[in-house]
Amino acid sequence: MPDTPEHASGYLLGHAALEQRRLLIQASYVRPWTARLLRRAGLTEGMSVLDVGSGLGDVAFIAAEIVGPGGRVVGVERDPAAVEAARGRAASGGYTDLVTFANADLSEFDPAGSGPTRQPFDALVGRFVLQYLPDPAAALRRLAGFLRPGGIVVMHDMDVSNTDASVPRCPLWDDCFALLSALFRAHRITPDFGRHLTRVFLDAGLPWPDVDSGAMAGGKAGSTVFTWLGSAVQAVEPLLGEAGIALPDGLVVDDGLVATLERAVRESHSMVLGNIHYGAWTRLQSVGLP
Ligand SMILES: C[S@@+](CC[C@H](N)C(=O)[O-])C[C@H]1O[C@@H](n2cnc3c(N)ncnc32)[C@H](O)[C@@H]1O
Repeated sequence: MPDTPEHASGYLLGHAALEQRRLLIQASYVRPWTARLLRRAGLTEGMSVLDVGSGLGDVAFIAAEIVGPGGRVVGVERDPAAVEAARGRAASGGYTDLVTFANADLSEFDPAGSGPTRQPFDALVGRFVLQYLPDPAAALRRLAGFLRPGGIVVMHDMDVSNTDASVPRCPLWDDCFALLSALFRAHRITPDFGRHLTRVFLDAGLPWPDVDSGAMAGGKAGSTVFTWLGSAVQAVEPLLGEAGIALPDGLVVDDGLVATLERAVRESHSMVLGNIHYGAWTRLQSVGLP
């Protein structure tokens, strides 16, 4: 994938308050799916885990619950505001003995640099991060190099490319949903990246992964899908303008958007989809990377 302004300058969505709120909303709905994925991939008590692109720490905290007091988790995150927020959450959640966060870019992070991270890790995990990297396969290969032979790699990514996200069709839902993939495309980020995980694992030189997928769906009053899409459109609105992507006619993007979406979907009696997420996991050969 070519270098782009996003790849050169940082995470597309930044870490302003609205994006942090969006990440927390997303994390709460996807939490059970991620927890199940990590367990299926083989994470278990006592393991050491490297969580890449740790954001506000949600995946690191799930991993910490799985590995328990005998394990350890290191999150790596480039954005200092996110690291600070994650450290605060670790302190208030009682995770400080188990989880630490390093403020570093993944292209430069080297666990040999800091004390408790010196040993090879048992598992590498990452959620919604590979797609933002300029060369996901090269990054994955480098990061897998921090694992012991036989270590586990598990990545969780998404697909927001669906052009038919409501049945019966709810134009407002489909149009708002389409803004996300338009923005990704404008920044040359693959909107259906989750579906590329097998190829990315193989390009990284890893063994063929197992995969699974799940979709967020809803429509009933109070469904999480409304908060998810409303908060996402609010968080990306300034970027849409910069990229020259027009909002649907008459759409007001503010805290009322969640209710507007809910009303439109209920009027059209639709079942709507949010993002589809994909997990891929594999184990390194016991002699290390091929
Ligand atoms: C969509 S967020 C996901 C956060 C977290 N994994 C989760 O699922 O809640 C992606 C995160 O990856 C971080 N990130 C992106 N590129 C990175 C890089 N090159 N080095 C370190 N962190 C990076 C971003 O700053 C952002 O916090």
